[in-house]
Amino acid sequence: MPAPIHPKSIVILDFGGQYAHLIARRVRESGAFSEIRPPNTPASELKDAAGIILSGGPQSVYDDGSPQADPAIVHLGVPVLGICYGHHWIAHTLGGKVTGGKTKEYGRTQISTHKDATLFQGLPEKFVVWMSHGDEVTTLPEGFICAASSADCANAAMESEARKIYSVQFHVEVVHTEYGNEILKKFVSLTDHAEWSIESYAKRIGEEVKKEVGDRRVFMLVSGGVDSTVAFTVLNEVLGAHRVQGLLVDTGLMRKNETRAIMNAFDLFGIENLEVVDASDEFFRNLEGVYEPEEKRRIIGDTFLAVQKRISEDMHLRFEDGWMLGQGTIYPDTIETGGTQHADTIKTHHNRVEAVQKMIDAGLVIEPLKDLYKDEVRKLGEEIGLSHDLVWRHPFPGPGLGVRILCAEHQEEAIPTYDIPQTTYASAVLPVRSVGVQGDGRTYRHALALFSETPYMIEPRFMELATSIPNTNPTFNRVLQCTSHITPPEFIFSPGYVTRERADLLRAADDIVYDEMHRAGLYEKIWQFPVVLLPFGTAAGMQSIVLRPIESQEAMTANAVSLPEEVVKIMTEKILKLPGIDCVFIDLTNKPPATIEWE
Ligand code: XMP
Repeated sequence: MPAPIHPKSIVILDFGGQYAHLIARRVRESGAFSEIRPPNTPASELKDAAGIILSGGPQSVYDDGSPQADPAIVHLGVPVLGICYGHHWIAHTLGGKVTGGKTKEYGRTQISTHKDATLFQGLPEKFVVWMSHGDEVTTLPEGFICAASSADCANAAMESEARKIYSVQFHVEVVHTEYGNEILKKFVSLTDHAEWSIESYAKRIGEEVKKEVGDRRVFMLVSGGVDSTVAFTVLNEVLGAHRVQGLLVDTGLMRKNETRAIMNAFDLFGIENLEVVDASDEFFRNLEGVYEPEEKRRIIGDTFLAVQKRISEDMHLRFEDGWMLGQGTIYPDTIETGGTQHADTIKTHHNRVEAVQKMIDAGLVIEPLKDLYKDEVRKLGEEIGLSHDLVWRHPFPGPGLGVRILCAEHQEEAIPTYDIPQTTYASAVLPVRSVGVQGDGRTYRHALALFSETPYMIEPRFMELATSIPNTNPTFNRVLQCTSHITPPEFIFSPGYVTRERADLLRAADDIVYDEMHRAGLYEKIWQFPVVLLPFGTAAGMQSIVLRPIESQEAMTANAVSLPEEVVKIMTEKILKLPGIDCVFIDLTNKPPATIEWE
């Protein structure tokens, strides 16, 4: 049974595109609370919504099995905004006509708006939007006016002011649409929404936590990541330290000096109810001889649970004695995308595994941040007084360096060869594969390294090839620039799984990258910067390092960052001084087709 919607929120029905979270965030930036629901949510559950937004989606309304909303939602009297697929669905449902278009591409297109259109009041008559070509509305439903047109699309927007139903063929939520934010704000202003800001939420959160916890106490695993740090601090503030117990498990897969840094940060805040347990031996023992990425994730997750269970038993923290489990889950982790289930195939949500879901259903779990996006968690952290540096730490995956130490038992039998068409650049296929995402699922493919006479300068042409090669060649899901060599060396593979020695080596490289990033003033410009260890080098027993700086908003899509030449140079030179590393690369691939992490 889904939780009821927040009264007067703006609900986004997710038809499965990549865009539902983007719309939800933009609505919140306009000052209204937003939440995402599956497309077929019954109208009866939406009657208290202030507004309903129907998102875009990849399908045609005529496709078999295409997602359908409850037709009654257009009769609730609640303002509705349809975007792309939502635009077609509204036209189709209210008796208009939708016709299959020629192409399925996206592009910048100029539209002309109708002077009487409510949605575009106050905007220029003509502006550029990010149009999705595909199906289009060819006959308007009765009572609707055409609100905008483009050269190729007569009904690029339509509306019925009397019914408060508006819809657009283009994506208002992406930055490529001029005035996209203004259009969303206009829609939000037409609704009777509850006001939303992080400051007002910070006040409300205390009451909600108190109500949910009652007279129980909360036990919580703290990783040092932004989410668990903020959640743990909120619980301490609201319930008082005597009703909260934190546990920090040192897995051996954390960053250099991480445990100390986390404890110092909490000390400064006066939080002392944090038990630290060094379980690194147990983690490395369980990972011995394990090469497969998902198997590694499972073992790390299971070891966490086993340690947590043992410690909580030792400390007598039992549910039957009035303890609950606290989690730092944030909003994107709680959402199953309705149309495509896409998010699930990309990322495992470790705090929504079956055992935890059962506890949630039994009311044994408290998640104070479950309605918030990452940037909102950061604002909340600052609002409650945590230091700026602490809340602006880069995201770090739950399995830690474990997913950044690439493991392989044997060299691939046949490594493909490849010559880049129409260029003279040298390239080499790496003797290992990594995870990517293409279409709707994971891929497990080779990376292609490119070589340049000026290895520290990121070649703009290489950035382009990093998009075109994986898109046209199914062998590859990543393209890298080698920053340590100007011509391809012979790669010598060494089998390897996760060991303390490899973790220490990667920790040292990661530490260099973090220092240099800070020194160059880049830390807050880069969203995340994984550093990855690969089991081959140019001599027996040697290994390689991959730099993976990316910019992103919520990690669902990401762009590779082109680092300045002097930063690449200093990072490469310092990493090459580490004993055991003799090759360095920088990953230039966006997500998709690559994922952020290599596993
Ligand atoms: P990918 O590699 O799927 O990563 O593009 C998206 C975001 O999720 C993080 N990540 C994880 N986080 N457990 C986590 O808590 C995991 O197993 C995991 N795998 C990836 C990754 O660091 C990025 O921020």
